[in-house]
Amino acid sequence: MAEFDPRLYGARWAERYDEWHAGMMDDDGAVAALSELAGDGPLLEFGVGTGRLAVPLAEKGHDVVGVDVSEDMLAQLAGKSDAVTTVVGDMTTVRVGREFDVAFIAFNSIFVLATQDDQVRLFRNAAAHLRPGGRFVLETAFVHGVGVADSHKLRVASVESDQLTLSAGIIDPVTQFYNGTWVELTPEGTRFYPIHGRNVTHHEMDLMAQLAGMELEHRWGDWKRGPFTAESKLHVSVYRKPSQTG
Ligand SMILES: C[S@@+](CC[C@H](N)C(=O)[O-])C[C@H]1O[C@@H](n2cnc3c(N)ncnc32)[C@H](O)[C@@H]1O
Repeated sequence: MAEFDPRLYGARWAERYDEWHAGMMDDDGAVAALSELAGDGPLLEFGVGTGRLAVPLAEKGHDVVGVDVSEDMLAQLAGKSDAVTTVVGDMTTVRVGREFDVAFIAFNSIFVLATQDDQVRLFRNAAAHLRPGGRFVLETAFVHGVGVADSHKLRVASVESDQLTLSAGIIDPVTQFYNGTWVELTPEGTRFYPIHGRNVTHHEMDLMAQLAGMELEHRWGDWKRGPFTAESKLHVSVYRKPSQTG
């Protein structure tokens, strides 16, 4: 496999991202929950992308800063709104130079990081950007343990008379590294939309939060604060930085 480049995702996906994700997630529920958690305070989004959540939050009047490693994704955001302050940077190391009431990372974006170390660094970086009592919110799919039997996935995403879109991927049960791509087959040729990174369970996230000095405050099965159960498809975790340190 070619060397892992975090900018590759945006370079390939930016132009099609909004079209392919329209209506796929509960954007309104996410915006409502994040808005309520932030109150009047500022929010920081890691992996802000095209601004699917940051733009409506900013348009509601929130002070929102979005970090992304991909200038291609941020160009799509800039084409929609100038209400979000954007920073080009790696979410594991970037320093924005401000404190926030809420830091968040949505739609599996923690999975774009390649290693467990990177994911721990993200938790630490989130904590470093929160005021005492601030919250770090993550939304991901509900990740179950992966066995060898279900480590290879192939799904037909869409079929038209002259176009076929497939989603294919292999997850390494040892490292949880996912090596995937969407493939679009048309009469003009084949295009690849890679997705690489490491899947992480909610149990592991709890330990990462502890390493970063934060505690689990809420875990929901959706953005409307429904219960998280064995049948849940996704989970939202809210971690809190203690009000007092030391
Ligand atoms: C799945 S998209 C999510 C975009 C948006 N947050 C949403 O919910 O629609 C993941 C985003 O993370 C960005 N990204 C990947 N690696 C990154 C890194 N190391 N630091 C910052 N952003 C990164 C990608 O460029 C992409 O915009």
